[in-house]
Amino acid sequence: MIIALTGYMCSGKTTVGGIVADALGCPFMDLDEIIVKRAGKSIPEIFARDGEPAFRALEADCLAKTVKKYAGSTLVLALGGGTVTCPGAVSLLQEKTLCIWLKAPVETMAERANATGGRPLADERFAQRYSEREPLYEAAAHIVLETEGLTSEEIADEIIIDCL
Ligand code: S3P
Repeated sequence: MIIALTGYMCSGKTTVGGIVADALGCPFMDLDEIIVKRAGKSIPEIFARDGEPAFRALEADCLAKTVKKYAGSTLVLALGGGTVTCPGAVSLLQEKTLCIWLKAPVETMAERANATGGRPLADERFAQRYSEREPLYEAAAHIVLETEGLTSEEIADEIIIDCL
């Protein structure tokens, strides 16, 4: 089973995904890292040099290949905040993964994004873009996990219980 964690930027996908994978004793992968390895450049570089459509095409391809490669094995996969906007991604996630939406208030995610920096789309459209994407997270996810007030470990525990 591929446990795919979806949600907006700074919703905790990578941190929680690592904890879940450790607890389950299975590999953890981050789609952003797969993309960076494949492109040979950082995400800000891909956005700046090639543009968002090129990034999405690469993201869609990396997602499809990862899902195909790990079909039948156990893997925790942290998606990017915009993976659900890639053509075909929502149905792929619905059909081939157990997709969990880490849902947090947009203010919490905006605070974290401001504090960490380095994300090309953490801009003035942050809240607007989140509301545009909410229906896509909803459509992709089998499980919605409200994370506000929970620690990363508590969120991971919820996911592990859902997977039993
Ligand atoms: C993006 C989210 C980022 C990364 C890229 C685009 C988005 O991933 O894929 O900067 O469109 O929301 P994280 O959600 O891991 O920050």
